[in-house]
Amino acid sequence: MAYELRELATPEDWEGMHRIRLQVLFTPERHPNLVYNRAHPHDTDPAHFKFLLVLDGEPIGTTRLDPRGEGGIVRLVGIVPHLQRRGHGSALERLVIEFARARGMTRLWLNAAKEAVGFYEKLGWTPLVWDEEELATFAANCVQMTKPL
Ligand SMILES: CC(C)(COP(=O)(O)OP(=O)(O)OC[C@H]1O[C@@H](n2cnc3c(N)ncnc32)[C@H](O)[C@@H]1OP(=O)(O)O)[C@@H](O)C(=O)NCCC(=O)NCCS
Repeated sequence: MAYELRELATPEDWEGMHRIRLQVLFTPERHPNLVYNRAHPHDTDPAHFKFLLVLDGEPIGTTRLDPRGEGGIVRLVGIVPHLQRRGHGSALERLVIEFARARGMTRLWLNAAKEAVGFYEKLGWTPLVWDEEELATFAANCVQMTKPL
């Protein structure tokens, strides 16, 4: 199996990211009233790294890494539904860490959906409130976690 953590480069890459997010993260069950914005400013911000996880040429996952201070915030992690629980999410996390380390980041943070906390705990993340404002607003149902690199 050959994984590639690909930074979005082409319109097809962007569409691949949107497609996976809509399948996994921005579903009607998770966000009943949300109208997904394909040009959200947090995505188009050039400082934010947008990725596809590509396996043997096929996009199977996505995430975004937003640099902050000495580290970065990992956002919008998703693996396509029919390939979850086969180690691909762990591979994505490992590759994002490699990418972050190569840029001198020393810590990562994220807002974990409650049902994903067990996944991150297995990978060595621990709970830590790192941004009260996010926790009080759009991340209200999440557990904030961190991992030193
Ligand atoms: C959460 C997610 C990214 C994990 O990716 P994955 O490819 O399914 O995970 P892996 O197969 O690499 O799992 C690694 C380990 O975590 C465990 N695990 C995976 N998902 C888990 C979960 N939701 N709760 C508890 N443990 C979990 C696996 O059993 C595995 O344990 P093992 O090594 O003992 O077998 C993926 O399931 C997903 O996209 N879920 C829906 C969207 C989501 O919740 N995203 C996170 C938002 S913060």
